[in-house]
Amino acid sequence: MQNKNTVQLDPLETASIDELRQHQLDRLRWSLSHAYNNVPVYRQKFDELGVHPDDLRSLDDLSRFPFTVKSDLRDNYPYGMFAVPMDQVVRLHASSGTTGKPTVVGYTQNDIDTWANVVARSIRAAGGRRGDKVHVAYGYGLFTGGLGAHYGAEKLGCTVIPMSGGQTEKQVQLIRDFQPDIIMVTPSYMLNLADEMDRQGVDPHKLALRLGIFGAEPWTGELRSVIEQRLGITALDIYGLSEVMGPGVAMECYESKDGPTIWEDHFYPEIINPLTGEVLPDGEMGELVFTSLSKEALPMVRYRTRDLTRLLPGTARPMRRIDKITGRSDDMLIIRGVNVFPTQIEEQVLKVKQLAECYEIHVFRQGNMDSIEVHVELRAEAGELDESARNNVSRELSHHIKSHIGISSRIVLNPSYTLKRSEGKACHVYDKRKAS
Ligand code: DLL
Repeated sequence: MQNKNTVQLDPLETASIDELRQHQLDRLRWSLSHAYNNVPVYRQKFDELGVHPDDLRSLDDLSRFPFTVKSDLRDNYPYGMFAVPMDQVVRLHASSGTTGKPTVVGYTQNDIDTWANVVARSIRAAGGRRGDKVHVAYGYGLFTGGLGAHYGAEKLGCTVIPMSGGQTEKQVQLIRDFQPDIIMVTPSYMLNLADEMDRQGVDPHKLALRLGIFGAEPWTGELRSVIEQRLGITALDIYGLSEVMGPGVAMECYESKDGPTIWEDHFYPEIINPLTGEVLPDGEMGELVFTSLSKEALPMVRYRTRDLTRLLPGTARPMRRIDKITGRSDDMLIIRGVNVFPTQIEEQVLKVKQLAECYEIHVFRQGNMDSIEVHVELRAEAGELDESARNNVSRELSHHIKSHIGISSRIVLNPSYTLKRSEGKACHVYDKRKAS
């Protein structure tokens, strides 16, 4: 039995870069052939570009292969991109999508085992150990968050509390009664839970919680500090997406806390220029693209995530890391010619000490100009502020936004606990332009 304090890493987590690259090349050859031989959509795309899996002689040759985008999955809804017969598919998940059909993903038993292994590896990299109690507040169901976290935590030998999202009052009661060591939840829902702890008079610093594994949405280093201070825990970043697997594609390591390490033995990353598709060198910002190396049911060839980040060299592990995701290209607002991501607004909101962490960005069109309102909330501890103190708070935030992001904004200050709280992935942007 594994001693609680000894950590046994997977051999590939500590392999040399040469060994890792050779493993990736072997796996990539298998994955491209598997896609080509079993998915007509891939065969057609490869043939159209005049490439064949045998053309892959080095990892760099991957750039000759076609991209896959979300609409490929939608166009072949529900099972058209699956590479195995349905009697080998033991699980489906789906992402809701704001318009039209959901994106459906499938897993063989081997895929489920691989997924559980990478999530177990992720929790271990975060400092979780066999015997820890893990409260899972990611949603269960078609979303990959809940069940993905669940199987991984069980695989590591943890005691799972499968709470799912919602029922905020009950979440806090169970955290108080069951005393989990680890919580897995979106960072925005963690804030909601922290508010509920305040409301119930629970002092988070007296709980057993020591670690939060947060992801499924962009969040800033500033929010990490706020969460760590409010809860008295270590907050680490987990990344993933359903098309590529679910949570556990990359995980930030406890010892370095410097951005998620990509589990490169299963997911091969590239960064591309989102406009031209050209592959960019490590260190340059662009769109993250993944090719699956071991997935059976739904192989993914050069899947364009739309997430903007850069690849960084390995630190705690030889595998490369991603920098914090700035946002998705779809979430980028263009306000009077300036590109703005919600995370940039979050950074500025968290600088103003009288403000709570929640915020909403409302976008309007006035004539042919776009403008934004930032709706924020006073902290309960800020107490009753008079008119001039309130104006100072608003002025401070709009000044930060102007000087750091370069756009003018109108600040709408709300009383404490009045903005809508997240129970999963937070919605920060309310685009009123579409209505007008
Ligand atoms: O959100 C999987 C997941 C569940 C990851 C729980 C982590 C924890 P999807 O619903 O398919 O899957 O959404 C994937 O969410 O492309 C990113 O835009 C965003 N995302 C996920 N993790 C992070 C993160 C899950 N750590 C999309 N930082 C991705 C920033 C993230 N964005």
